Amino acid sequence: MPFDAKVLQSRLTGKRIGCRLHYEETVDSTNRVAMELAQGGAPEGMVVLADRQTAGRGRLQRSWQSPPGCNLYLSVILRPAIPPHDASQITLLAGVAVAEAISAVCTERVGIKWPNDLLIGGRKVCGILTETRTATGGIDSVVVGIGLNVNMERADFDPAHRETATSLREETGRDHSREDLLFLLCERFEPWYEIFLRDGFAPVREGWLARAEMTGKRLRVLFCDEVREGVFAGIDRDGALLIADEQGAIRRIIAGDATIMKG
Ligand code: BTN
Repeated sequence: MPFDAKVLQSRLTGKRIGCRLHYEETVDSTNRVAMELAQGGAPEGMVVLADRQTAGRGRLQRSWQSPPGCNLYLSVILRPAIPPHDASQITLLAGVAVAEAISAVCTERVGIKWPNDLLIGGRKVCGILTETRTATGGIDSVVVGIGLNVNMERADFDPAHRETATSLREETGRDHSREDLLFLLCERFEPWYEIFLRDGFAPVREGWLARAEMTGKRLRVLFCDEVREGVFAGIDRDGALLIADEQGAIRRIIAGDATIMKG
């Protein structure tokens, strides 16, 4: 069953996040639609939601599997007054907020793999794609796209992801209300965003580190076509990944893709 937009809108009570809902049953990508709406002046907090995406986008030019009737695909439009180079911190903030929302319905630990893959039992349950539009002098808008696997069954995942992806249904053994999860997401996003705007990244960093999936682990990081290996050494005060090499020297990674190495 697709969503009932009227019911959703009437239940979204957040002051900022979810103040407006743009729902379409099928879109190519909620992030693309949200970027377009943002460019046309859509307000901060607007949520773009779809039942199905035909061209869901992932990080690093990957695609995001988006079948109808089972998962959440949404994008939140933000207009933070922060320097463009701090926009990536919103990605980490979103990871913490979504992890908290998931934890309300799932007793298993929800971990975060830098920058913002949400994992349960080492498998990815949610991906977040943040896209920023800058205007002269700063940020015009930030779109935070969230893809959460809710009721998808293992057999329905693309074979390439079947062993590494999961859904809330697979982890808890029962179906979940997508509507309730959407409200939980907005409910958790709102205070974290307020804290970030008021107090900066430090409290978000603490929340992120408390859920870090990489503590004590060896990582392989793909960064600008270069592969680097090292032991997870936390995240820096601006959200950059820190890894320690064999000699103990700390390297900063500001963007890239990290894999947790086995053993
Ligand atoms: C990733 O892990 O690679 C990020 C995946 C992000 C997927 C979501 S689904 C809703 C929003 N619209 C998109 O096209 N992508 C994001």
